[in-house]
Amino acid sequence: MKRIGVLTSGGDSPGMNAAIRAVVRKAIFHGLEVYGVKYGYAGLISGDIEKLEIGDVGDIIHRGGTKLYTARCEEFKTPEGRQEAVNQLNALGIEGLVVIGGDGSFRGAEKLTDLGFPTIGVPGTIDNDIPGTDYTIGFDTALNTVINAIDKIRDTATSHERTYVIEVMGRNAGDLALWAGLADGAETIVIPEEQYDMESIFKRLKRGHDRGKKHSIIIVAEGVGSGPEFGEKIKEATNLETRVTVLGHIQRGGSPTGFDRVLASRLGAKAVELLIDGEQGRMVGIRNNKVIHKAITEALSEKHEIDRDMYVLSQELSI
Ligand code: F6P
Repeated sequence: MKRIGVLTSGGDSPGMNAAIRAVVRKAIFHGLEVYGVKYGYAGLISGDIEKLEIGDVGDIIHRGGTKLYTARCEEFKTPEGRQEAVNQLNALGIEGLVVIGGDGSFRGAEKLTDLGFPTIGVPGTIDNDIPGTDYTIGFDTALNTVINAIDKIRDTATSHERTYVIEVMGRNAGDLALWAGLADGAETIVIPEEQYDMESIFKRLKRGHDRGKKHSIIIVAEGVGSGPEFGEKIKEATNLETRVTVLGHIQRGGSPTGFDRVLASRLGAKAVELLIDGEQGRMVGIRNNKVIHKAITEALSEKHEIDRDMYVLSQELSI
């Protein structure tokens, strides 16, 4: 293998730049040429591809977002779009591709491998919802962003003796909500992976209020429903002064944490090693702090699970 490509796709996540840097530098270290594809699969189809040198990835390890830009690309879902992407790669003599992104991006990588194009996936999403890795790049930063936001909301919640519903991202996964809820001592965490019952949420809130609690924090994962709707129901049923904050895209930005930078560097470099070793259709990940890899198809066939013990603990600690 002499020449490889790298792209970021789907929702951006903090640490993607560190992963791009690792791919580029590791490849150059091993004597390969690297091409950066802009705007994910859309840039692959349109040929928005340029050579990257060592200096092109300088001064980005600490920056959020992605230097290569990103997109969600409908055209790549068609066989014609995918064939055009492979044609563009072949025209430039690119022999392998590193795809940094979430599950949708991995599905694209799987399809490229089916077309015979060697592709390796690097999990980058704040959702932490990719089976095959304990953590995805960006999750830790997003978690800390959520924690910082909730700490601030808690101040005002206490001052006004209010109940706050906070909606966090995570598409269909509850990791961000669960970890933030445990880290912030939320009274209630509502996530798609666990059943919930509005009546017991109301009872819990009233019990806390009657006991003299100054405020309550309820974290709702977006996959369960809208924060504003939860807020309305709570206000109606409990008569407690309730406010809602939807954290939104603030969770996707910002400088990556040390954890995410290190994870991105390790996983990006491993992806290049796999291409050099002739592997394809694999994803890299981290298990018990060891870098591992497995077939993308296998990872995508598994169901993402939350850590149930953590969920139970969050309930025990918020009595
Ligand atoms: O996958 C990352 C994510 O931020 C999800 O948590 C969220 O559901 C989705 O992307 C939002 O997508 P968009 O930025 O396209 O609105």
